[in-house]
Amino acid sequence: MPAGDRRQLGAAARERGRAVSPGLRDLTRRHGLLFGGDYNPEQWPEEVWAEDVRLMREAGVNLVTVGVFSWARIEPEPGVRDFGWLDRVLDLLAGAGVAVDLATPTASPPPWLGHRWPETLPVDESGHRLWYGSRNQFCPSSPVYRERALALVEDLAGRYAGHPALAMWHVGNEYGQVCHCDTTAEAFRTWLRERHGDLGALNDAWGTAFWSQRYSAWEEVLPPRRAPYLVNPAQRLDFRRFCSDALLAHFRAERDVLRAHTPDIPVTTNFMGFFNLVDYWSWAPEEDVVSDDWYPDPADPLSHVRAALTHDLMRSLAGGPWMLMEQAVSAVNWRPHNLPKPPGQLRLESFQAVARGADGLCYFQWRASRSGSERFHSAMVPHAGPDTRLHREVLAHGAELRALAGVAGTRVPARVALVFDWPSWWAATERGLPSDRLDPVEELFRYYRPFWERGVSVDLAPPSADLSGYALVVAPSLFLLGEDDAASLTSYVRGGGTLAVGPFSGIADRDARVHRGRFPAPLREVLGLSGEEWLPVPEDRAVPCAWTDGGAFTARLWTELVRAEGAEAVAVFAGSGDPAVLRHPCGAGTAWYVATRPEHDALATLAGRLLADAGVTGALPGPPPPGVEAVRRGPALFLLNHGDGTARVPIPGPARDLLTGAVVDGAVTLAPREAVALQSPEHEASNTEE
Ligand code: GAL
Ligand code: ZN
Repeated sequence: MPAGDRRQLGAAARERGRAVSPGLRDLTRRHGLLFGGDYNPEQWPEEVWAEDVRLMREAGVNLVTVGVFSWARIEPEPGVRDFGWLDRVLDLLAGAGVAVDLATPTASPPPWLGHRWPETLPVDESGHRLWYGSRNQFCPSSPVYRERALALVEDLAGRYAGHPALAMWHVGNEYGQVCHCDTTAEAFRTWLRERHGDLGALNDAWGTAFWSQRYSAWEEVLPPRRAPYLVNPAQRLDFRRFCSDALLAHFRAERDVLRAHTPDIPVTTNFMGFFNLVDYWSWAPEEDVVSDDWYPDPADPLSHVRAALTHDLMRSLAGGPWMLMEQAVSAVNWRPHNLPKPPGQLRLESFQAVARGADGLCYFQWRASRSGSERFHSAMVPHAGPDTRLHREVLAHGAELRALAGVAGTRVPARVALVFDWPSWWAATERGLPSDRLDPVEELFRYYRPFWERGVSVDLAPPSADLSGYALVVAPSLFLLGEDDAASLTSYVRGGGTLAVGPFSGIADRDARVHRGRFPAPLREVLGLSGEEWLPVPEDRAVPCAWTDGGAFTARLWTELVRAEGAEAVAVFAGSGDPAVLRHPCGAGTAWYVATRPEHDALATLAGRLLADAGVTGALPGPPPPGVEAVRRGPALFLLNHGDGTARVPIPGPARDLLTGAVVDGAVTLAPREAVALQSPEHEASNTEE
């Protein structure tokens, strides 16, 4: 999509957001919360299938994803089709009442494709071809790959349209392939022509006067390839946009084939959270169900907060309920040292996803593989079989999820939005910046954490979104900012909103050219300040700062020299007395700017002030105890204890525990890893979808 369309895209996403959920809603009306996993029967002799299906029924599995990596099995030789086995699998599942999320198997072409058509294999930045023998080996721009993939999808859709098991389509798997070959170069040029028009405009946008990079003919223009030194940042940025769009074009092509056969079957593809290579704001409106794969790092003590942020991103992409397509029952096998999940952890993590809007809780994978690279990945049915602790946890969890069916289809109300943008992320992580320590996703997380700690729900939004429905908008790190998006942030504040902007935001335009003048040029007016120097700080140095109404804090890594131009300093750098945090009443609203990188405690204080300005409170009357997550979704208040100790959480009034049926009042006590969903009396009568 031409990048100029990004503004419409926000609107399209919202439009679609309302049209998206019905597919998922139909499914959850029939099945309750979706529960299951990736099922790869092609790896097993048929005798095992009967046991699989029996165990699925026992576990309350109601949805499995079939066929993700089955291209070579369905099309053993070019043009040949073997659907017999898949017919039997789908019939078995239909007989057992297990719905199927049927995958187009195009994520992993068979060896014959790369062998006969090596041009379908991807090429890296150095010009080396990547070979088959693993997975994902395709060039997104290859016409041969496209043709073969679509022919297969056509036959798959034709064969299973109307099959009673078919409930959802799963296109490919975890899109994120990149290729630098000559075919890609051709496609990149076509994309660039559409974005920039003529070569003069391209030279201008990319600033090719620098280092004698001026192009004299389109044929000279290439994807970024290995070069002696830093490659043009605007070229790299456009290439990332192009890569996301090229994959999206392929996704759409498959989706359109599927929709032609089965207009009522929802289509998804599994996202990967804050995945760098694809702009999910542009993808989400193109699918019917937003789904995500989430594999928290057990070594990260804050992974539950990262999980919350990621789930909030998915809910925001979907504009409502989404589904967790893949998570691990216990350990993964792809980190160097794979820690298991302690007992109770999978339950806690699943409930967390439900609390944050998930209507489906699925796992990778149903039965552990005997062969291949993922033999040591945990599964719902481990190598040791069903008589195992892990499988018993799966059984118990499936049974419990049935008690939560009432939250399916409901919303998580949020009055705070965090702004996040993929192209800005890309541009802000190029080489050649004042520092590579200001990672936009890490900054987003740092600003998110205090809201999580207070039980305040947060949506995510692209800078082009209509933010007028939010009381508070925070843009922690928005390096790239077009004039039009800056103008809409300004009018958001003038109209009564509270906006907070983090450092090194509003610095460059959409082609990564620095905005002229004092920074952040397009936000100067709304922020009531301007800056002139970025002053990164040695990593081991704490920067002393002081709130102007009393109290000290420290900041790290980054400071800026700015001056107030209407804003008042709320905090100053202790050494120089220059402003560090500024607040500017503007129109009917207020804008805040943070000219440094405060440590967590100071960000927590700041969040409290922002919430006070915006008049926003959390899910509970006060902040929950440390480590406890509090989220309201539809009729339920979820309380989740991620801490190591028992926590006592005061609750606002009497409520029914949806899992046990017990009535609680005053407070609930949560053991470590315990989770409850409480329904207060006013919600008993109706299950509102709001
Ligand atoms: C995902 C992928 C699955 C499986 C899983 C293992 O990225 O979609 O096919 O590989 O990781 O954790
Ligand atoms: Zn290629």
